[in-house]
Amino acid sequence: IKREKIKDLLETTEFDREVTVMGWVRTFRNNQFIALNDGSCMGTIQIVVDFNNTPEQLLKRITTGAAVAVTGTIVESIGKGQRVDVKATTIEILGDSDPEKFPLQPKKHSLEFLREIAHLRFRTNTFNAVFKVRHALAFAIHKFYNERGFVYMHTPVITASDAEGAGEMFKVTTLDFDNTPRTEDGKVNYAEDFFGRATNLTVSGQLEGELAAMAFGQIYTFGPTFRAENSNTTRHLAEFWMIEPEVAFADLEDNMQLAEDMMKYVISYALENCKEEIEFLNNRLQEEEKSKPQAERSAMSLVEKLNFCLENEFERLTYTEAIRILKSSKPNQKKQFKYLIDEWGADLQSEHERYLVEKHFKKPVILTDYPADIKSFYMRQNEPDEQGRQTVAAMDILFPGIGEMIGGSQREERLERLMQRMEQMNIPQDEMWWYLDTRRFGSAPHAGFGLGFERLVLFVTGMTNIRDVIAFPRFPKNAEF
Ligand code: 4AD
Ligand code: MG
Repeated sequence: IKREKIKDLLETTEFDREVTVMGWVRTFRNNQFIALNDGSCMGTIQIVVDFNNTPEQLLKRITTGAAVAVTGTIVESIGKGQRVDVKATTIEILGDSDPEKFPLQPKKHSLEFLREIAHLRFRTNTFNAVFKVRHALAFAIHKFYNERGFVYMHTPVITASDAEGAGEMFKVTTLDFDNTPRTEDGKVNYAEDFFGRATNLTVSGQLEGELAAMAFGQIYTFGPTFRAENSNTTRHLAEFWMIEPEVAFADLEDNMQLAEDMMKYVISYALENCKEEIEFLNNRLQEEEKSKPQAERSAMSLVEKLNFCLENEFERLTYTEAIRILKSSKPNQKKQFKYLIDEWGADLQSEHERYLVEKHFKKPVILTDYPADIKSFYMRQNEPDEQGRQTVAAMDILFPGIGEMIGGSQREERLERLMQRMEQMNIPQDEMWWYLDTRRFGSAPHAGFGLGFERLVLFVTGMTNIRDVIAFPRFPKNAEF
């Protein structure tokens, strides 16, 4: 089908020629002016309808939401507000849209309402911008790793292991639990299941990624991951996309550098390649900020925030140093934190993370060397500190407005140490024989991290709810669409 994209036509300098455009009607004013959008950009092109020579029946069918094909002449607009018009010669209705029933009216809808019609919200400027930025960021990630010679690995979605050891997994089964023969103690007999064992949706591709890194040297994954954690927050999804690089012959220092380089690369790619979209989102956010009390308004605009992040080194400090800062911080002293920090070893809550990045350092922060007890089994054990406390070579990267953006570590490459840790944490060693094999045959220092893709999109678009940066969000009690 021959047609021209509206994005190109809005920039054209070749006038007075015949063009065909196809798209969806945003508005139809005075039986004369159609604002038409085809998804190629946020804006619309103005179609001028010769209503005197157009049948009444056809005019009635040009309604908000209808799909139309228009052939006409492209001319320089004499009206205000647009540069070009298409003077229609023929208009064909491709798909009607009943104006009484079409939920997307040409007015400002709340994001909450749009979430209920996620199948139609792509047709708004906000979501056009969000998903264009999401696309650009995904592309930039592949570009970044490709330029550095990383191999893109596709790790399995269905697995038998729990990579994080946190037990937050969705079961995958073909068993009909009501009619399944049970074992003697009444438990479901997974030997009867499709794979002959219990399986689940992956929570992370890291373990498989490590195996590949121990052969290719440097790999990354970029795929969907699943967490059955019951967190109804603006930062959590049950299904999210994760980027997980893994590098052999690398330590925590290398890992931090890679993460910072990647973040800066992809943010600057989006700034360069999604100028219009980011500007639109910037203005959108500015408007939203106006409805907040002065004290809660962000000091920086979205664009300023993104540039600030590019221009400054991420702050690096240890968990122990962070605890010291938090302990003597105003909100801790004045008991304003929900969870007060009183001793070393406590897991940081998002209020603490956000205090560090938004109030104390006012820029992205890399926290390292967490207590072993609050981190996963695979992280490399540090030498105990002067007080005999056990930490691991972990890193979390915290971002303003987001909290934890990245979680990673240097891995425990020493077989004995790893096995000891797995035993302590009740991680089944026999089932993980393949993981332990990498430590048996040519083990080497290696490190990696996981970036939550939607949290990155959230940061770059300035959206405030993670459910608005993935097409069809999955969260507790919601799997519509
Ligand atoms: O910190 P996490 O759990 O780390 C891992 O899964 C490691 N295996 C990664 C690695 O070292 N290869 O998750 C990594 C990141 C978090 O920092 C966060 O950005 C994101 O994934 N994340 C979520 N994003 C949205 N919804 C959730 N429920 C998320 N849980 C984690
Ligand atoms: Mg984490």
